[in-house]
Amino acid sequence: GGVGRSKKHESADKQVAGEAIYVDDRPALRGELHAAVGQSTMAHANIISMDLSAVKAAEGVVKVMTVEDVPGHTDIGPVFPGDPVLAIGKVEFVGQPLFAVAATSFDLARKAVKLAKVEYQELEAVLTVKDALAKQSFVRPPHTLKRGDSESAIASAEHQLSGEIVVGGQEHMYLEGQVSTAEPTEDGGMNIYTSSQHPSEVQKLVAEVLDIPLNKVLVDMRRMGGGFGGKETQAAPWACIAALLANETKRPVKFKLARLDDMVMTGKRHPFENNYTVGFDKNGQIKGINIEVNGNCGYSPDLSDAIVDRAMFHSDNAYYLDQSTITGNRCKLNTVSHTAYRGFGGPQGMMTIELIMDEIARHLGKDPLAIRKINLYGKEERNVTHYDQTVEHNNLSEIIESLEESSDYQARRKAITEYNATSSILKKGIALTPVKFGISFTVQHLNQAGALVHVYTDGTIHLSHGGSEMGQGLNTKVAQIVAEEFQVDVDTVACSAARTDKVPNSSPTAASSGTDLNGKAAEAAAKTIKQRLIDFACEKYDVEAQQVHFENNNVIVGEQTFSFAEFSQIAYMNRVSLSSTGFYKTPKIHYDRASGKGRPFFYFATGACVSEVIIDTLTGEYKTVRTDILQDVGASINPAIDIGQIEGAFIQGMGWLTTEELVWNEQGRLLSNNPATYKIPAINDAPEDFRVALVPNAPNPERTIYNSKAVGEPPFMLGMAVWSALKDAVASVADYKVSPKLDTPATPERVLFAVEALKAAH
Ligand code: MTE
Ligand code: MOS
Repeated sequence: GGVGRSKKHESADKQVAGEAIYVDDRPALRGELHAAVGQSTMAHANIISMDLSAVKAAEGVVKVMTVEDVPGHTDIGPVFPGDPVLAIGKVEFVGQPLFAVAATSFDLARKAVKLAKVEYQELEAVLTVKDALAKQSFVRPPHTLKRGDSESAIASAEHQLSGEIVVGGQEHMYLEGQVSTAEPTEDGGMNIYTSSQHPSEVQKLVAEVLDIPLNKVLVDMRRMGGGFGGKETQAAPWACIAALLANETKRPVKFKLARLDDMVMTGKRHPFENNYTVGFDKNGQIKGINIEVNGNCGYSPDLSDAIVDRAMFHSDNAYYLDQSTITGNRCKLNTVSHTAYRGFGGPQGMMTIELIMDEIARHLGKDPLAIRKINLYGKEERNVTHYDQTVEHNNLSEIIESLEESSDYQARRKAITEYNATSSILKKGIALTPVKFGISFTVQHLNQAGALVHVYTDGTIHLSHGGSEMGQGLNTKVAQIVAEEFQVDVDTVACSAARTDKVPNSSPTAASSGTDLNGKAAEAAAKTIKQRLIDFACEKYDVEAQQVHFENNNVIVGEQTFSFAEFSQIAYMNRVSLSSTGFYKTPKIHYDRASGKGRPFFYFATGACVSEVIIDTLTGEYKTVRTDILQDVGASINPAIDIGQIEGAFIQGMGWLTTEELVWNEQGRLLSNNPATYKIPAINDAPEDFRVALVPNAPNPERTIYNSKAVGEPPFMLGMAVWSALKDAVASVADYKVSPKLDTPATPERVLFAVEALKAAH
């Protein structure tokens, strides 16, 4: 078995030794060519002409294609149209693929695309959210969630505040960039080896651009060197282009993006600009609230409708909003199309309400933690979200109290206040922020999964499921679940690459639901085989079902004990099927978008974080000195992997809110286009003192796989504690009487400006 144990990641040894195979490590196929695309240099323009003669004549070039050469669909928008595979008469962002080249080497392909002569007629570009709002430039219509009469609730409250916050986007910076290899097959089909969170969608889009049926496209995805949402939809374009070139040349084609191209040509976390008006009582409890979240979606819809919806759903974070109006705008800008990123809009939505908690606290002269507590969802009352889902089994007040105690919050708060009173240059800050994150795809049909399990005659097990491994440990957990069912060692179970011919019509591995969905599907498959073995044992050995036990790599039948291997062989000799599919769909969920009511989430994942920072008020430089996290992962299937997910998510969330700054210039060109100009956290940025704990004895009350809870995204948002702590440190400059304005990312520059603004005002 092994569920509940800290089994190491199935690829850990190989990854540490450099032996794990990624798409680009696969041995070159015979005659393999390399792809590159010409990129738009304009943010918005009509294409007057494209002279590709020099590209065609360049060394090593075998094929040049434009959109005219595409046999099937030219639009590869994943949910809504809007993403041309290659530009169709106009361009809508700098870096948009114009034409594609296949050449004999990676370098020759990249050199050749630079030789195109493109004539543009420049059009007016929308490059800011404010401009998009003024022009009503949207990729999808605005949407509003309304409960009660927020206007009069705000007006009649004792206090009112309003404000705005700019929340930056984020580059995925997966270590392995976007890559796909397309290999033509003998029957006019295509095999695709890709780094994608959504192999079934790659299959569909490749089939559509080639105009061939889905059963002629096979997608194979062994592992990603990180996806983080960036390979949910945006792995597909490169697979489609590789397939188009492979189809034309009848040769295998690999398309890998150089880091610089990857950063320019792929979408990021949506930057948001949100604003609010809130009314609250003298204790700081919210009575009415209006929030507007404005997502910068870039030029096309991609997943933005669902992402801005999730920002709206999570505008409450952990707090009861009472009378509320939440509006979400999906702004269309002439930038790359922004996409899924850990939290899927949830983090950007939560930032507004966490800002409001700090603002109310400073306004009333209270500790922000007291304001957070007084606004938490209640257990029996004040427990219904603004989209009408009851918050069941709410454990946030216990989590917060427990963390407050284990982190020594109150004593440290006091010590910090004393330190700041005497330290003139260095200032400390501390904050505790909770997270409540809804688990399920808000698009209902995606909440399904399939699996395929084979038992061989030596008792070893082969497992395939619809999920994809991106480092999060999904394959390890699902293997543990199958091993647990048969009570065999987990090393008996080999988990294959995700392949569309083994498990069809799979959902993306996203929304943190990989284990919830695929674990249940694999369990169902294993249960089917196990039941057949039990039925067979009863018949063959004339025993009752209760006399058949799977234990410790053995099958015990009445008085006899067989090894699992022996019993598999006997079952085979007696013509028992040892292979089965399994299927799962999430129960209980429903949602009506028109009325904005329902239960979009099966359950909520919860957690909280205390972070302490120290800032230098002369330079704005800072350091996170200590972080304490308490996260509810239900009954953990693998505590080591869950803790790793929490640590990684927190650091990534902290990076998003502190040092990771995306900069586009006035022509819409991305300036922060490589790791030298875009700063992700390094080991030195990790908290010196970093304590992560799982809520003990907390099985998920919902019937999830082994009563576990999803862990992939929720702890990302714990990084908000660092941002709030930075504001706390800055606020000390003005004796906590003025609330600092600190948009994100809170780079050292922004911290310095916030300090100076407070000094000037004080
Ligand atoms: N962990 C690693 N190491 N690499 C990743 O790319 N992606 C995150 C999270 N953890 C990611 C990761 C995101 S965005 C999601 S949605 C989940 O993993 C997806 O996997 P799961 O559903 O199996 O948790
Ligand atoms: Mo994660 S953003 O749902 O891939």
